[in-house]
Amino acid sequence: MKKIPVILEGDPGHDDAMAWVLANASPELDIRMVASSCGNQTIEKTTYNARRVCTLIGLDVPMAKGRPRPLLAEPMAAASVHGESGLDGAELPEPAYPMEEMDSVALMAKIIGESSEPITIVPTGPLTNVAALLMAHPELKEKIARISMMGGGVQYGNWSPAAEFNILVDPEAADVVFRSGIPITMAGLDVTEKALIFPEDFERIRALGNPVALVVAQWLEFFYEFHREIGYEGAPVHDAVAVAALVRPELMESRDLYVQIETKGDFCRGATVADFNNRLGKAPNAKVLMGIDRQGFVDLLVEAIATYGKGENA
Ligand code: RIB
Ligand code: CA
Repeated sequence: MKKIPVILEGDPGHDDAMAWVLANASPELDIRMVASSCGNQTIEKTTYNARRVCTLIGLDVPMAKGRPRPLLAEPMAAASVHGESGLDGAELPEPAYPMEEMDSVALMAKIIGESSEPITIVPTGPLTNVAALLMAHPELKEKIARISMMGGGVQYGNWSPAAEFNILVDPEAADVVFRSGIPITMAGLDVTEKALIFPEDFERIRALGNPVALVVAQWLEFFYEFHREIGYEGAPVHDAVAVAALVRPELMESRDLYVQIETKGDFCRGATVADFNNRLGKAPNAKVLMGIDRQGFVDLLVEAIATYGKGENA
């Protein structure tokens, strides 16, 4: 099987962490590097969390810190969802692997530039660093196969009525990415809010009994608390869908659409505006995921988590 070379870039964050647990256990993927982004918490906290998650799952690849703030906007954080640490709810090991001195834009440019094949970037936080990469190194666009990102939502937002958190944190960055011409898979709220992990699934994961499974079950319990209080029947593991779309595309329903990013507006800044009726006559710039086989997604996660404590994930 030809592996897909990927860069994981996110703001762990419970669902980022679970996305990385899935990616690291997916034989379809060849993880070339990991990077942090400023989103759910400060860059310092998301970087510390990223290092601890990689230590927990045994992912020892080049890692670098992202930018400390969005391109133009002030940083935001989602402590109400992910806690003060950005990854509350479970004891994690201290980082065991070194960080690169260079920042994530420089490391992504190095890894992509030196790769013999195009690389897929999997951003699961704000798109600040990916946009910075594209602006600083436009010549590398042809060596980026795809951007499989979690963000946006063509029907509604979650951090504002119109905007999803990752896009709202840095709309200017998202605009750069969606105008880049690079193939995009957009795992927005349209699909990720259907990717619900129910409490009975938490127990299925806990029953696996390996150290990663026990931590993931605790992450899910913490992450579900915020969502249960606002009426969700399960935890929407948003970010893991951006990984699942690469390893099990058959689980997804999608539409190829032309998507624009609203960077102005009093009410709609950060909205991902899809041209469903082709009013603009523009070619689609994103494969927008609209549906998911939820049970298949949960089974994929459980199977991935079950590999920890066995074989090479021991
Ligand atoms: O809106 C959900 C997204 O915002 C997820 O990526 C979550 O981790 C937060 O970053
Ligand atoms: Ca995230």
